[in-house]
Amino acid sequence: MINLSNIVLSLGHKLLFNNVSCVFEQQKIGLVGRNGAGKSTLLKIIAGQIKPDSGVVTMRLGKRIAYMPQELTFSSELSVFDETCQVFADRLNLEHEKIELEKKLAQGAVNAEALIERYLVVEQAARSVDKHALFERARSVLVGLGFNQDLQNKSVQALSLGWRMRVVLAKLLLQDADFYLFDEPTNHLDLVGKEWFFNFLKQSASGFLLVTHDRYFLDGVCERIVEVENGKLMQYAGNFSRYVVQKEEQLAVKRSAYERQQREIEKKQTTIDRFRASANRSKMAQSMLKQLEKIELIEIEPPVPVMRIALPPVERPSAVVLSVKNVAYGYDQEPLFKNVTFEILRGQKVALVAPNGAGKTTLFNILAGLVSAQQGTVAMGQFVNMAFFVQDQARALNPAHTVFEEVNLAVDAPEKTVRALLGAFLFSGDEIGKKISVLSGGEKNRVAMVKIFLKKANFLLLDEPTNHLDLPSKEILCQALLKYDGTMLLVSHDQDFINRIATRILELTPQGVHSYEGNYETYLWTKKQQASPVSDTDKKRPVPVDPNTAASPQKKNKSAEYDHKRVKWLERRIAQLEKELASQAEELSGYAFHTADHRQIVARMKKMDEELAACLAEWQKHYE
Ligand SMILES: Nc1ncnc2c1ncn2[C@@H]1O[C@H](COP(=O)(O)OP(=O)(O)OP(=O)(O)O)[C@@H](O)[C@H]1O
Ligand SMILES: [Mg+2]
Repeated sequence: MINLSNIVLSLGHKLLFNNVSCVFEQQKIGLVGRNGAGKSTLLKIIAGQIKPDSGVVTMRLGKRIAYMPQELTFSSELSVFDETCQVFADRLNLEHEKIELEKKLAQGAVNAEALIERYLVVEQAARSVDKHALFERARSVLVGLGFNQDLQNKSVQALSLGWRMRVVLAKLLLQDADFYLFDEPTNHLDLVGKEWFFNFLKQSASGFLLVTHDRYFLDGVCERIVEVENGKLMQYAGNFSRYVVQKEEQLAVKRSAYERQQREIEKKQTTIDRFRASANRSKMAQSMLKQLEKIELIEIEPPVPVMRIALPPVERPSAVVLSVKNVAYGYDQEPLFKNVTFEILRGQKVALVAPNGAGKTTLFNILAGLVSAQQGTVAMGQFVNMAFFVQDQARALNPAHTVFEEVNLAVDAPEKTVRALLGAFLFSGDEIGKKISVLSGGEKNRVAMVKIFLKKANFLLLDEPTNHLDLPSKEILCQALLKYDGTMLLVSHDQDFINRIATRILELTPQGVHSYEGNYETYLWTKKQQASPVSDTDKKRPVPVDPNTAASPQKKNKSAEYDHKRVKWLERRIAQLEKELASQAEELSGYAFHTADHRQIVARMKKMDEELAACLAEWQKHYE
């Protein structure tokens, strides 16, 4: 399908592709690699946007290739729906052309014969176009990506960058290309949109090269993994998990070869040192040294970096940093959540979790002041200096600045501190002179994070802060957040990340939030306990006798028997409800948001949730 042969490309001081040859068949391929390894650049080369220094890219004739870049400035005065339907312009314009031709013919055009010929072709083609079906398809893709009716009617230029990227994605998917080049498309989607896109890719007959750091996608939809590493491309059969296994095996082999080589070098070096001291062997030492220098060194990955510097201290805010009361929000009269009431106290590191589509991002945007609540209040405490990190944050950087200027101009900190923190965030000496415009997605993300830390905000709101980041960058961010002595609220799909950072979990439900002290594991454990309340320890726990019911032995027995039966029934019902809720949640993910089916399931789940809460409360009472 796509054939790369002998591609060489250097950008700045970096040799990104060192004589790369590779064939991509019409398959579902995940493209992975470190931040800055050259994934986006590779897609640009294939899309013809960057010319390599040498080498050629060839495509199979007649195949259509469509490209979605990582970032794009795109706008339109049309509505979302009309802009999306531009994809069908060739087909939709046939009707228009037919009318024009009819007019010309009626006016007695001179070249009537040619016009009639064209008219027949157009007429025939126009007849085979099912306008209604095309509009339906456009609508269903838009709904899948999260555009409700209101949003579809909105002008594209009124949308945020993230939503505009979704329009780009919708148009692309409607093109029915044979092969897609997707550069981190999931970064622009919420969970519901991601789920829809996941299923779309799974069912699609098109091939693609998909760049993403999202393991769920790499595992679930990719049948082959290609890695960009040190200027080369390596192909691995199977999904991401298989790639990890193969990679680990390779690494183990490489590590032992590295150790063997190091031992050998050390041994040779000792001999050389010994020979050097002796007058008649110094010549031999020299030739041995030359030999040693010729050895091609095996290089292994440097260990995951450790952040050694401290973050600037932040001002101490009031004890209550954020107070949220009775907040509610919904779309199309359907409440997404209500009665959201909680406080965040100074120093807490809170993760907001919820099932798909429960409205985490909406709540996050309300807290960040980007969206107003339809009901309720959000109040910051005194001396709270809030900074937030959202997807568009990295785009808000000035492309004309260098990395150093971007940070230095924005913060009130000595140059030395700026350099040190940039260094800690993996920008080496000469990299801080790079222009923002040439940075990769992950690199931009790191610059934005450094800015936030140096602005000394004492309350951070972080929405998917690990989105573009590779493993070492994620590790650095994790360490920085652990060192950070302010307060924070974060939304992340990365369970490992939440587990390491959060000290408290807030679970968002349609009826409000539940708070769990502890990290993510503790939260999961508590949930599990709630789901299967009769663990062995519980069974053994003695049931205290209520003196009031201990009147006559007979009555006592009767009531105890009833209690016992009731408890058993409650336990069965709770287990049943939990199971049903889980299966409903799974079913829900198959439906687009805001459809009648979706609403129906949500309503059903709400009822079950209420019954479950009542059952649990009663069950607990029996043990109090
Ligand atoms: N014109 C340029 N001058 C200097 N360096 C450049 C230029 N263009 C790109 N680079 C560098 O080339 C590297 C590759 O960039 P690319 O965007 O392809 O990375 P990526 O693999 O897509 O990373 P990410 O996962 O962060 O998106 C980056 O380090 C980037 O800073
Ligand atoms: Mg990239």
